[in-house]
Amino acid sequence: MEYLKHRGVKIPLIGIGTFGLGFNANNSATEENTVRTAIETFGMTLIDTAESYGDGASELFLSGIIKDYPRENLFIVDKIHPENAEKNAYSDSCRRSLDRLGIAAIDLYLLHWREDLELGRVADNMEELVRKGLIKHWGVSNFDTDDMTELFDRDNGKHCFCNQILYNIATRSPEYELIPWCKKNDVLVTAYSPLCHSNARRLSVAQNPIVIDVAKRTGKTPESLMLSFIIGTSGVTTVFKTSDISRLENNMQNVFSPISDEDLNALSRVFKAPRKRTKLKTI
Ligand SMILES: NC(=O)c1ccc[n+]([C@@H]2O[C@H](COP(=O)([O-])OP(=O)(O)OC[C@H]3O[C@@H](n4cnc5c(N)ncnc54)[C@H](OP(=O)(O)O)[C@@H]3O)[C@@H](O)[C@H]2O)c1
Repeated sequence: MEYLKHRGVKIPLIGIGTFGLGFNANNSATEENTVRTAIETFGMTLIDTAESYGDGASELFLSGIIKDYPRENLFIVDKIHPENAEKNAYSDSCRRSLDRLGIAAIDLYLLHWREDLELGRVADNMEELVRKGLIKHWGVSNFDTDDMTELFDRDNGKHCFCNQILYNIATRSPEYELIPWCKKNDVLVTAYSPLCHSNARRLSVAQNPIVIDVAKRTGKTPESLMLSFIIGTSGVTTVFKTSDISRLENNMQNVFSPISDEDLNALSRVFKAPRKRTKLKTI
């Protein structure tokens, strides 16, 4: 695994996404093996979950795995649903997540999406969770530049550690304004859905002849090339999800070898860099 340092914290460039994991008990043995392999073989010690994933099912699924590793070796990211945040149920929601996960503190707690919450309250409530020792850092998800600017105008807003956003080779709009803004303001960007989330969208990239050519020449697979593209945007980390060990291996193949400028240019001719600001997309 390779890492970056953000505000003094060592963060793996690639982590485990869990949307869908633990939803169906019939699949849990295969899924558990995959997550253990991700941790042990690939050093994917950052694990991303949310209270809303299967209504707590992903958190419960993870508890059976987390307990077998030294807690300090894992970086657990969890998310609060805005409805719970709105009801000011931060502490209760956070404690329920901690109980399901079987841990004492969450490393990074994100507001899952904004809704129309008052951002000063969000920042204050998150800071209170830090003071209580229930979380170590807090951040947001699906925040566009105007949301970030508004958050940073509020007391405590600048303590926001991370913004987790939809970003992949076929959805490059955050490169225009949001990622540069986050870098300038020392906010970690984590890209979700780096493999485009759906099979059809992933295939529309993976079957592109330029992608196939660059992947072949660089010893990558189309999927590991998609991940390399994201983490090559310096300062951006990512989380992908798979329930299958062979797909995990495929995705991590030679993922940390850099992509040359020439290959990046070739990819950019097909998957174009944004030339104007557009609204942040979400899933
Ligand atoms: N903050 C937010 O609002 C938000 C939104 C969405 C996601 N997320 C987080 O980001 C994580 C990743 O995003 P994502 O799950 O939306 O999408 P993703 O990681 O881009 O893609 C996951 C999908 O791709 C499939 N897949 C993975 N590797 C594959 C391969 N080599 N060949 C074929 N199919 C492959 C997976 O199926 P299999 O399991 O069958 O391999 C799964 O259906 C989530 O799990 C979640 O933790 C956050």
